[in-house]
Amino acid sequence: MFFAPPGRKDGDFCMKKVQFTETVLRDANQSLMATRLPFADYEEILPTMDRAGYYSVECWGGATFDSCLRYLGEDPWERLRKIRAAMPDTRLQMLLRGQNLLGYKHYHDDVVEEFVRLSIKNGIDVIRIFDALNDFRNIKTAFEATKKYGTARTVASGCISYTQSPVHTVKKYVEMCRELKEMGFDTICLKDMAGTMSPAEAEGLIKGIKDEVGDIPLILHTHCTTGMAYMTLLKAVESGVDVIDTATSCFSNGTSQAATETLYYALTQMGIETGLDERVINKVNDFFKPVKQKYIDSGLINPKSMGTDAQALVYKVPGGMLSNMIANLKDMNAMDKFDEALVEIPNVRRDLGYPPLVTPLSQMVGNQAVVNVLMGERYKQISNEIKNYFKGEYGIAPAPVSQELQDKIIGAGNKPVDCRIEDAKRTGKEFADARAALGDLAQCEEDYMSWICYPDQTMKFVKERREREEHHVRYSIVEE
Ligand code: CO
Repeated sequence: MFFAPPGRKDGDFCMKKVQFTETVLRDANQSLMATRLPFADYEEILPTMDRAGYYSVECWGGATFDSCLRYLGEDPWERLRKIRAAMPDTRLQMLLRGQNLLGYKHYHDDVVEEFVRLSIKNGIDVIRIFDALNDFRNIKTAFEATKKYGTARTVASGCISYTQSPVHTVKKYVEMCRELKEMGFDTICLKDMAGTMSPAEAEGLIKGIKDEVGDIPLILHTHCTTGMAYMTLLKAVESGVDVIDTATSCFSNGTSQAATETLYYALTQMGIETGLDERVINKVNDFFKPVKQKYIDSGLINPKSMGTDAQALVYKVPGGMLSNMIANLKDMNAMDKFDEALVEIPNVRRDLGYPPLVTPLSQMVGNQAVVNVLMGERYKQISNEIKNYFKGEYGIAPAPVSQELQDKIIGAGNKPVDCRIEDAKRTGKEFADARAALGDLAQCEEDYMSWICYPDQTMKFVKERREREEHHVRYSIVEE
């Protein structure tokens, strides 16, 4: 399967096998420098990137939206429109956390629909939609909105949070893929956020999916965190994956993705066509080198995030979760309990029905394990997040949860709530609240959506925007 860039004919690419999604504008910059890359730092290179031959450029969603408003004084929608204008021939991609949009709370269906509509309106082509628990009811509304408001070039990508546990077998992943295909997704992405997928696991998984689910295009997203990524991606390509996520080399490795150029050279020598223009991808890297140096010099890029840390393979937990746990234990002067807490993690996870260890579940599981060990008694103290999880607010766990713990939290004989019933309510309340809060500070419908997602940051942003405009008006009058 090979996708021609919009505006070119499929026939031009009949020999080609694997395509690349470039992540420097979103995940690579999120992983290495907390998403603080301002638009002005990369504006100039966008027309060049437009000619690279990527399958897509991931440039929006995830933490970019929050970071624009909170730290960079940018309107995330305006950023998207500018990228769109500079890259007309490239698919622009975003990451969306299903019913949670870009955060961790569940929004009502009318909010989710409007967010998707505006994302497409402002220039997004590929919407990669996932749910932390792989509870696909939580991605259904976003998927349907993508189909409803999408154009001929819109791609709805169903995304699976990859994790390892006794219940996460190849068979289970195949079932998930089948479900996504039946829902009508155009592509399926395996998202290994912790970078713990090994080459052998990638081979088993991708061959299994290709054999059982058939011809739906398959994408692999992984991170270099543990040092597995290049081997895993190569095995994935050999096993038939269609698209891989990579970052221009100076923004690769460490907690980021594997390097675009490196994989280009490796695959090209193997006779695998990538669709990439060698000269252009090297130009892109040349451009970003001084940008990266600037943030190393400023201290925003932590050298630790650029290294390899195989601990996650040893302890079977993501690196971020481990460092969070160590920080907690140090705070409480209890590092002597580290080994005990590590042993407790899989036990808590089993009690919770083996959720993928992705934010916020990784922190929830890690914190509860620490509390269980420190209190000397399991679940003597239970965090509100874990209580809400058992009440059903996050969705359905991958495997049955501990009945004993559920009874303790919600009372024997009671059932968890169905979060979908709550989510489906179309109250219009969020929009009314946004209009009331923003008043005449709002300039467009996108402002309301920004406020619904991040009220405080948006308020700060629109006030500053107003001040800038008033200043500009005064300045123009003086000029005349
Ligand atoms: Co990622």
